This record gives sequence, structure tokens and C-alpha cells, in this order.
Amino acid sequence: MPVIRVEPCTFALFGALGDLALRKLFPALYQLDRAGLLHEQTCVLAMARDELDAEGLQRQLRESLTRFVSAKEQDAAVMQRFIDRCTYVSMDFRKRDDYQALTSLVSAEQPLVAYFATPAAVYGDICRELAHLELVSNLRVVLEKPIGHSLESSQEVNDAVARYLPERAIYRIDHYLGKETVQNLIALRFANSLFENQWNSRYISHVEITVAEKVGIEGRWGYFDQAGQLRDMVQNHLLQLLCLTAMEPPSDLSADSIRDEKVKVLKALAPITPELLSTHVVRGQYAAGSIDGQPVPGYLEEENANVHSNTETFVSLRCEIRNWRWSGVPFYLRTGKRMQQKLSQIVIHFKESAHYIFAEEQRDQVSNKLIIRLQPDEGISLQVMTKEQGLDKGMHLRSGPLQLSFADTNNAARIPDAYERLLLEVMQGNQYLFVRKDEVQAAWRWCDQLLASWRQDGSAPKKYPAGSWGPVASIAMITRDGRSWYGDL
Ligand code: BG6
Repeated sequence: MPVIRVEPCTFALFGALGDLALRKLFPALYQLDRAGLLHEQTCVLAMARDELDAEGLQRQLRESLTRFVSAKEQDAAVMQRFIDRCTYVSMDFRKRDDYQALTSLVSAEQPLVAYFATPAAVYGDICRELAHLELVSNLRVVLEKPIGHSLESSQEVNDAVARYLPERAIYRIDHYLGKETVQNLIALRFANSLFENQWNSRYISHVEITVAEKVGIEGRWGYFDQAGQLRDMVQNHLLQLLCLTAMEPPSDLSADSIRDEKVKVLKALAPITPELLSTHVVRGQYAAGSIDGQPVPGYLEEENANVHSNTETFVSLRCEIRNWRWSGVPFYLRTGKRMQQKLSQIVIHFKESAHYIFAEEQRDQVSNKLIIRLQPDEGISLQVMTKEQGLDKGMHLRSGPLQLSFADTNNAARIPDAYERLLLEVMQGNQYLFVRKDEVQAAWRWCDQLLASWRQDGSAPKKYPAGSWGPVASIAMITRDGRSWYGDL
């Protein structure tokens, strides 16, 4: 039974004809409509620069919904109802006169949610114009990443928005926070005393966080080459996963209690100084290889590539959190493009018990692991040791999973896309799945020092063949500690 009360709002999508809007945001809004989670008075304003009439927008929406919503979830009546909610407004986001059209379309009676799927350089301009029209009192703005490419540039973006809006009206997206399993991390940790009591350096030996992608740069070479994998994936998604895994129990579930705890983790992350680069970091760049048996080009051979680029498409890190809970527990993070599998998971490795009584040759298999899988096959499994069955097996041990697959439980309820969850939360005015300004700053501060160490070091990223698990050095990094990446084939 739905436990959510939906309120009406005006949803204004700036950058409505861009890839993100067409691929993710309109399909997510459609899914909310299909689930009965858009109030009947909620309307969608689609804003972009192109000249487009009402029919043009309808055609465009129908095309993108047909393409990006799975066939079995396409419902002609809902699609029509959703399309009827949408109005196109052609505008240049920097031109004051173009905003006049909004005055008749935005109702003062209901909240205005403005989603900025635009370059960050115009966030401040849009806020200024909405303030000029006196539309900010009931306004929530959603900021897409990347918010800057360093601490300084992110502050400029944040300041430009803060000139017109208080922090409680600003929703910074990190779509990983909308993933079902990521939210489940909070439930898993704090609603199960079994885990919470063991969640510290006394019982946990180390933690792995892997976010591997099979895709390459997908026509985004220009953006990506300026960013690199550290800015594109670690500064936001991986550090958010690390924070949720490592944070102290919040005093309640309010947005600020959770975000207060996350920011403390970021502040406790030990900097990776130049002396630690050789043992704590591996930067990689994919070379030609094969994905699913098909040959794929290397990063430097992609369309529009600068063949001299030293940008990393892979990073693995050995991080340390300086607080009482995690002292001595390494957090190994890795993420890369063009890897063998699309896989995002967190693996918690528990320590062995102090006294061991089974066969010595099986000793290195004996450790419990909690695997929190974000994608694919969302679920949680706990690797436990049991006895192998059979009269002839003696006390031979085997490791097997206690498994909770989200697809198989919950009456096979559909797992929503991250953007559906996040759009719903912002429409309800809940900020707990959005990133606060001080979190963004702390994450950039940590990444900036690592980027500075890289600049000082100046060495080129290590090559890895597309379709592998990254450079050999990444395996060596964890092997040096007597460990291995969980599940690599
Ligand atoms: C985005 C990055 O934030 O996340 C992309 O900019 C990346 O480079 C994407 O491909 C991965 O998201 P997901 O949900 O597919 O794991």
C-alpha cells in the first residue's frame, strides 16, 4: 500500500532536450505518473533553446519514452496523460525577456521544482531570473553534476546559486543515492543489530567498493577528457558509497542528521600525499581490447580523441579513515570504464575469529563477507561457512551465500530507477538523498589534494586492455596487503 501523499507542483526542466532529460528524466517522470505518484495538477514545463511547437514536443517525448521505457512498462493511456502535462517553452537561459513566458505558466499556489539539466555555468543565471520574477519563495532547485571540477570552481557554482536561495531549497543530485540498494544500506546497517554491533575495526578487516562499467566514453570525449575518472566517479558516487558505509549512526533519519555524519567521514579521510602514490593509488587508461567478444578501440583511439591525453579512465585507491571506528581498516575503492563487467558492489570482509579449529589448508577460505550489490541483480548476500554435505566429507567446509535478492523478494516489485526516487523526493521536499554544500566541498578538498599529488608526480596512467579488471598494478596494490579483489574472474 502506498504510504506517500503526493502534492501538486510545477516541474520546470531546464535543458529539456538534452541527453539526460530524454534518456532519464522524462522516463522517470512517466514512471511516477504510471505509479500514481504525480498529482493530477502537477504540470511539467520543458525548457530548451530550440524552436519547437507543441506537436514537436509531443513527438520528441513519445519517441524518447518509447525508446527508454521498457516495452512492458509502456501504457498508451498513461503516456498520453503524461505528455498532456508537458508544455514546451523555448528560451535562452541567459536572456531575461525569455523568462516572461513563465509568469503565466507557474502557479504561486504550488511549489516550483526547477531541475537544471544544463551546464553549471548557467545555474546562477537561471536563479537570478527566477528571483527577478519573484518565483523563489516556493522554489526548489535541483543541480546536476558536475558541480565544478575543483573545490574552487564548485564554490563558485554554489555561491552563484546561494545568492538567491537558501541551502534548504537546493537539491544536489548524486544519482547513486537514489539507487534502491544504496538506501538499503541505511536500513541494513541501522535496523539490524547483528551488523551494527560488528561494524568496526574490531570485527572488519577491510572494505572494497567497486563501480565497474563496461561502457567507454560514449561520445563524451570532450567532457570526460577534462574530468577523468576521479572527478567523474570518485568525487561523487564512490565517496558517497564510502560515507554511507562508514558513517556513525545518525541521531535520526532527518536529512541533516544523515548528512552531518557523512561529512564527518569525508573530513576523516586521510589525504593521499605524493609519498603514498606508489602504494595507495593506481591510475589507468584503457587500451584496445574486447567487450563481450567484440573488439573495441582504446581511449586514445576513440572519436575526437587527443592522442596524447594522460586522462585516467580507471582509478583504484587504498583509503584510510582516521577515526576510532575504522583505524587500521583499509577501504579499497576502484572504478573504471571499459571493464569486464558492469558491476557495482560493496564488500565488507569480516575478520577471522581468534581461535581456528578446522583443517589448516582451508584456513584462508574462512572469512565472512557481506556483499551489497547495487547493480546488476540488486541484493545483499552474506557469505557464510558451512559443512559440506555427505558421509565422506568429514568436517570439510564450504563457503556459501545467505542471499537476499531484491528482485525475488518484495513480491517481485519493480526496482525503480534512481532518478524516479530522487524526483519523487524533491517533489516532496525531502533532502536526505541529496548532497549538502559542505559535503561537496569536503569531497572536492580530498580529491584536489590527490589531483595535486598526481600533477606533482606527472607519470602517465597505466594501460589496461578494454574488457579486463584494470591495470595489473591494481591487483598488485591489494595483493601487497595479502588480499584480493572479491569476485574477479
Ligand atoms: C555518471 C558518470 O555520473 O555515472 C558517467 O558521469 C557514468 O560517466 C555514470 O557512466 C554511471 O552511472 P550508472 O548508474 O550507470 O552506474
